[in-house]
Amino acid sequence: MNESKRIPAHVAIIMDGNGRWAEKHGKPRYEGHIEGVKSVKACIKAAARNGVRYLTLYAFSGENWGRPAEEVDALMGLFCQCVTEQTPELIEERVRVRLIGRRDRFSEQVNAHLERIERETAGGDRLTLILAFDYSSREEIARAARVLAERAAAGEIRPEDISEKAVSDSLYTAGIPDPDFIIRTSGECRLSNFLLWQASYAEMYFPQVLWPDFGQEEFDKALEEYAGRERRYGRL
Ligand code: FPP
Repeated sequence: MNESKRIPAHVAIIMDGNGRWAEKHGKPRYEGHIEGVKSVKACIKAAARNGVRYLTLYAFSGENWGRPAEEVDALMGLFCQCVTEQTPELIEERVRVRLIGRRDRFSEQVNAHLERIERETAGGDRLTLILAFDYSSREEIARAARVLAERAAAGEIRPEDISEKAVSDSLYTAGIPDPDFIIRTSGECRLSNFLLWQASYAEMYFPQVLWPDFGQEEFDKALEEYAGRERRYGRL
């Protein structure tokens, strides 16, 4: 890979198409999610190898609770299993894991897994892997507004102190730079309540490929696409 290529500091991915992949291969939906985990691992490796500093993956949206109970249970189980199995390698590869999203709707067992992976990988300084889990952007923004209103009501800040930075600092993503590049697989072209505030100037890419087929090669191809984009931030 060309060393002088422009690399996005923060790549965020909406991993879509697991169900369609399973259907295409005549398998139950769950198998699509299992296959999707392989793509998760491949993209973490490819991101680290290319010098991407932040990789955000939309693993479970607030709206995903509306799926059949057996699919939700299967996703929780897969997530906990994957996180437990991968922790030693993540530590070895100096990958730090951060979770964004609500924490009040998971079982104690799931929360224990999430806390453990954040704690055990806290020393990682090569790549920050941000897992959006029970995440929805509107909930995040409403929560930030509530936090700021409470601080104003308590006299800690004045209404005029509520700047763009103050809002950013009150989101789950506080301290994480905005994504430069958002990828959604499977050909769907929408954000589905993902990083709405943070996506203001992100470049978007919507490859047709289904998430389980999105491996290291596809990730590299996406970076090529990004390198060719001209970012103007509203300027001429
Ligand atoms: C969307 O495909 C995918 C999900 C809702 C789950 C993504 C989860 C994983 C890849 C596994 C665990 C992740 C980590 C980070 C360990 P879909 O089911 O909506 O596909 P469809 O639109 O084709 O039905």
